[in-house]
Amino acid sequence: MLSFLELLDRATARWRKVPGPGRVLLVGAGPGSPDLLTVRAVAALQAADVVVHDQLVPGDIVALAPARARRIDVGKRKGRHSATQAEINALIVSQARAGRIVVRLKAGDPGVFGRVGEEIAALTDAGVAFEVIPGITAAVAAAADAGVPLTLRGVAPTVTFISAHGADGSSARGWSGLASEGGTLAIYMGKSAGALVRDRLVATGMDLATPVIAVENAGREQRRIIAGHVADLPSISERSDLDGPVVILAGPAMAVAEPRALSHQTAA
Ligand SMILES: C[S@@+](CC[C@H](N)C(=O)[O-])C[C@H]1O[C@@H](n2cnc3c(N)ncnc32)[C@H](O)[C@@H]1O
Repeated sequence: MLSFLELLDRATARWRKVPGPGRVLLVGAGPGSPDLLTVRAVAALQAADVVVHDQLVPGDIVALAPARARRIDVGKRKGRHSATQAEINALIVSQARAGRIVVRLKAGDPGVFGRVGEEIAALTDAGVAFEVIPGITAAVAAAADAGVPLTLRGVAPTVTFISAHGADGSSARGWSGLASEGGTLAIYMGKSAGALVRDRLVATGMDLATPVIAVENAGREQRRIIAGHVADLPSISERSDLDGPVVILAGPAMAVAEPRALSHQTAA
């Protein structure tokens, strides 16, 4: 039987053995706790010559790359803007063309609001080999933290990941008909748009009394779980103490384990 370390070694060797030019590994870092990384993501980090990471990826995950690996932060930092997508595309292409194993590390899953589509297109156009390594997306970690299901037999037959960007009325794309059939909505990037998200949900036919669970820092030690209803969404944006990322889950399935969610709370 394979030991954990053998499993990790085998996964890392997979990229080391590939001859010829460099490649890009588009890696999901999960919600932010190192122990929620996949084994393959850890192996990719250990094989990395260069790690290109976003601001949402905590330092203790980036630190899993070997000391010799170059780290490049392309996220927003005090006093400077994040790199543009075009700059990131050019960076990963040029690093791979120089023969390096490039880990492009993204929070959660690269394919969920992670702009991996643009990077895949750029790598394909440039003829650079790449691989996508999935990660646990924020909504999945949040549901686990709160002890709620995303789908529930007979109650919530679907789950929809949606971004609150565009909830301001500039774009209603993707929101129409969302409330039908009792499915669960996993709303990303909605922390500062609570009132707009509420209005958008009501416009799609969702009741103000529909249960909602918002999780700050899902999947991390310092997570906080806030249980309420669609009507309460504006109050999330009014809270000045929520400084971590927040994902909002809305739908009848959130009612199932509401008391348990509250008992999971780690802070007021
Ligand atoms: C640009 S999106 C990236 C999503 C990421 N690719 C994923 O699959 O989770 C950033 C948003 O994801 C959500 N998010 C990411 N990590 C989170 C976490 N640990 N806890 C709560 N929300 C998180 C927040 O809504 C945040 O504004």
